[in-house]
Amino acid sequence: MRNYLVVGGSSGIGEALTEILGQSHRVYATYNSHQKSNDGNVSYHPLNVLSDTFDLSFLPEKLDGVAYCPGSILLKPFHRFKDEDFMEDYKLQALGAVKTVRQVLPMIKSGDHPSIVFFSTIAVQRGFNFHSLVSMSKGAIEGLTRSLAAELSPTIRINAVAPALTDTPLAAKLLNTPEKSAAHAEKNPLKKVGTPQDIAATAAYLLSPQSGWITGQIFHVDGGFSSIIK
Ligand SMILES: NC(=O)c1ccc[n+]([C@@H]2O[C@H](COP(=O)([O-])OP(=O)(O)OC[C@H]3O[C@@H](n4cnc5c(N)ncnc54)[C@H](OP(=O)(O)O)[C@@H]3O)[C@@H](O)[C@H]2O)c1
Repeated sequence: MRNYLVVGGSSGIGEALTEILGQSHRVYATYNSHQKSNDGNVSYHPLNVLSDTFDLSFLPEKLDGVAYCPGSILLKPFHRFKDEDFMEDYKLQALGAVKTVRQVLPMIKSGDHPSIVFFSTIAVQRGFNFHSLVSMSKGAIEGLTRSLAAELSPTIRINAVAPALTDTPLAAKLLNTPEKSAAHAEKNPLKKVGTPQDIAATAAYLLSPQSGWITGQIFHVDGGFSSIIK
C-alpha cells in the first residue's frame, strides 16, 4: 500500500483521483471550502494554499506520490485583467505547487518510486481567446514540471496532465446548459467534454510505479484537441 497526498481532493479531478487511489492505497486528501469526511483509506484535511500557515503535519514520514490540483479558469478579454489578477492566479496555480513540493520533499525523498503530478491546461499548447490569465499561470507549471524533473532526477519523477474542458465544478459556468455542453463537445475531435475520471486515470498512472520511466512530460489528455483539426 502506497501513501499519497492529493492537494485539492474534494472536488472534480482531485476528488476522482482520490477515489481511484483510495481503492488500494492510503490517501491524505485536502479540502479548502468543501469539507469532506474520511472514508476507508482516505482521510481529509483542511488546507488553504493561499494562507500564510501551510500545515501538512498530518502527513506520514514517507510519501510515495503527490498531486497538486487547485486551479482556476477565469476567462476575460486581456484588457480587463489587472496586474493583481495575474498575481493572485499565479499564487494559487503556481506558487501553491511550489510551496507544496518544498514541504513534502523530505517525505517524498524516502518514498518508493516517488512521483509528483501537476495540472496544466490545453490553453498553454494552443492559444484561445480570453485565456491570457490561466495560460500564463499554467505555463509556469509546465516550466516547473520540466525543471524539477531535471533537478530531482533520478529520485523523484515529475509530470503534468494538461486537460481540455472537463466537466467539474470549476468548469460549471462553461457547461451549465445542455446547449453549451453540446457545443463544447462538438468542437472536440472525440466529440466529448472530458470527465474527471478521464483525467484522473492518467494522473493515477503517472503516480504509480508503472510509469517509472516517464518524467518531465506534459500529458495532453484532451480528446486530441491540442493536436488534431477535424
Ligand atoms: N475542469 C477543467 O475544464 C480543467 C481544464 C484544464 C485544466 N484544469 C486543471 O485541473 C485541475 C483540477 O481542476 P478541477 O476542474 O478538478 O477543479 P475543482 O473542481 O475546482 O477542484 C479544485 C480543488 O482544489 C481545491 N482548492 C481550490 N482552491 C484552493 C486553495 N486556495 N487551497 C487549497 N485547495 C484549493 C478545491 O477545494 P474546495 O472545493 O474544497 O474549495 C478542490 O478540491 C486544476 O489545476 C485546473 O486548473 C481543469
